[in-house]
Amino acid sequence: MAFTYFFRDRATLEAIREYVIPELRKYRYINIWDAGCAMGPEPYSLAIIFKESLGYYGFKRLRIYATDLDEENHRFGEIIAEGVYPEESVRRIPEPIRSKYFSPNGKPGYIRVADEIKRCVFFERHDLRSLKPIAENFGLVVCKNVLLHMQPSERPGVIRMFHRSLAPGGFLATEQTQKMPAETSHLFEQVTPNIQLFWRV
Ligand SMILES: C[S@@+](CC[C@H](N)C(=O)[O-])C[C@H]1O[C@@H](n2cnc3c(N)ncnc32)[C@H](O)[C@@H]1O
Repeated sequence: MAFTYFFRDRATLEAIREYVIPELRKYRYINIWDAGCAMGPEPYSLAIIFKESLGYYGFKRLRIYATDLDEENHRFGEIIAEGVYPEESVRRIPEPIRSKYFSPNGKPGYIRVADEIKRCVFFERHDLRSLKPIAENFGLVVCKNVLLHMQPSERPGVIRMFHRSLAPGGFLATEQTQKMPAETSHLFEQVTPNIQLFWRV
């Protein structure tokens, strides 16, 4: 199921702004993996949060690798590249951020993401069940509302793969409804109570 919208989990975005960005901004390149990105509102929400904190030059160092199985062939890659979404999907974005990064697209009821935001997001197809990370040395891996669709026995393997894909001191964000499985709890420390944001040990 590919249900998603912009700024879906404000509390986690706020925690990323508060705890993750101050660490990652120290690095020359900031690489993020958004695993199970659906048609793009989540990686674009992350890009907006980083742009707001990093400013014009800092933002140029950011790359978000957005992956999804896209099992039903909805062509997420093409939707993300186009960056056009129903107006209702951006309702959660507070003004003035919404008007800063979105503009009318000529099609009633739809709105387009700014090119500067689109430029840092790259989509590729990837199956998390392969247990092969798309790359290593990520500063942040975001995987939200995906693990809950997997069997409990599958989750530790996927979380171990995220651990391998992170740079030392990197961060992992998962959905609020998933607690860290006991099998992988020694690999991460929770950054702040009540938010599923972890630091790679
Ligand atoms: C409910 S959406 C979540 C989208 C976004 N992360 C969010 O929280 O708004 C779940 C996404 O996980 C993807 N997905 C499910 N199983 C997957 C797998 N094995 N590998 C990669 N993506 C998968 C689905 O295609 C879908 O787009």
